[in-house]
Amino acid sequence: MHAVIFDQPAADGSATRVGDVEVPVAGPGEVTIDVRAAGVNFIDVMARRGDPGYATGWPFVPGLEAAGTIRALGPGVDGLAVGMPVVAFTTAGGLAEVVKVPAGLVSPIPAGLTFETAAAVPGTLTTAVLLLRSLRPGGSVLVHSAGGGLGQALARVARRQEAGLILGTVGHSSRSAGAERAGYDAVLVRDDGLSAAVLRRTDGRGVDLILDSQGTKWIDKDLELVAPTGRIMLYGNASGAALDAIPTGRLFATNAMVGAFSMRGLAARAPWLIAEAQSEALDAVARGELPVEVTPLEGLQQVAGAQQALADGRGEGKYVVTLPSRAD
Ligand SMILES: NC(=O)c1ccc[n+]([C@@H]2O[C@H](COP(=O)([O-])OP(=O)(O)OC[C@H]3O[C@@H](n4cnc5c(N)ncnc54)[C@H](OP(=O)(O)O)[C@@H]3O)[C@@H](O)[C@H]2O)c1
Repeated sequence: MHAVIFDQPAADGSATRVGDVEVPVAGPGEVTIDVRAAGVNFIDVMARRGDPGYATGWPFVPGLEAAGTIRALGPGVDGLAVGMPVVAFTTAGGLAEVVKVPAGLVSPIPAGLTFETAAAVPGTLTTAVLLLRSLRPGGSVLVHSAGGGLGQALARVARRQEAGLILGTVGHSSRSAGAERAGYDAVLVRDDGLSAAVLRRTDGRGVDLILDSQGTKWIDKDLELVAPTGRIMLYGNASGAALDAIPTGRLFATNAMVGAFSMRGLAARAPWLIAEAQSEALDAVARGELPVEVTPLEGLQQVAGAQQALADGRGEGKYVVTLPSRAD
């Protein structure tokens, strides 16, 4: 079968190809899916770069999320059937004609949703639902990198759960338009004026929840901007730079909590939390409560270009690749 393959770590697409790999076989508690649509994510870029903890070995087949029909059930799998339309958080291997995944990370696709729309849910909307679990109605949130795929999803999910002020930051003003379209109350460029702008909008109190995918680069600023008893959640390291120690001394002064979030970690240790949030997000999309905008790609050959666009910070929305139905 065909799959997107990273042959070795690379800063660009020079070691990316579409090639043949063995069709995976479902083991106990697993299913295989004939993939009809799969999402492209920034995490593919981190795996391609060779950031620790992403590619499990080389060559590596990336792909965090895929939708299609169940091809086969491994021993001990209940509640799913061959041919059923499903979507899954795949952790890896989703950018392929067939993917193998633990059954606990698979959700049926609600009636009326296309494979393309469903494939955009596990890595972005599901992540957004989980990252915003601790936010109370009326609470304020600040999201860094608000113009990316996940950044846009976070604004939509925050709005759906009746957050108060929803602020986004971007590294460059060219990424403001996407964030504004997603519904942020204000989109701020991360420059010298950021602190004053956030404090002005929160009457000097700061923000209840800060979601930061920039490693620890902005942790000092986050601690300045978080409200007393607020939370800072670190959930990415876009540049791949070494992570600094958390300045614990400052936590006493700010009365803030700093935590971390990883879908991969949850998939390994508490997959039911992902499955629950994934179903919640799919149902909300099916009811029209959460809009999904997809930037379509036709066939696996187009994936390397989209991954490079994300690496260059010139991605356009949420890329989803469509695959033809398999003959066998
Ligand atoms: N913890 C988890 O389980 C989880 C799950 C999904 C995604 N994530 C993380 O969430 C982030 C967004 O993912 P996505 O799929 O939405 O990606 P995306 O659409 O490509 O957006 C990524 C954003 O990160 C910033 N960026 C891109 N390249 C960068 C670089 N080299 N250095 C610093 N900043 C850079 C850009 O925003 P600005 O320059 O405007 O800041 C860009 O808009 C990624 O860091 C990803 O790893 C984490």
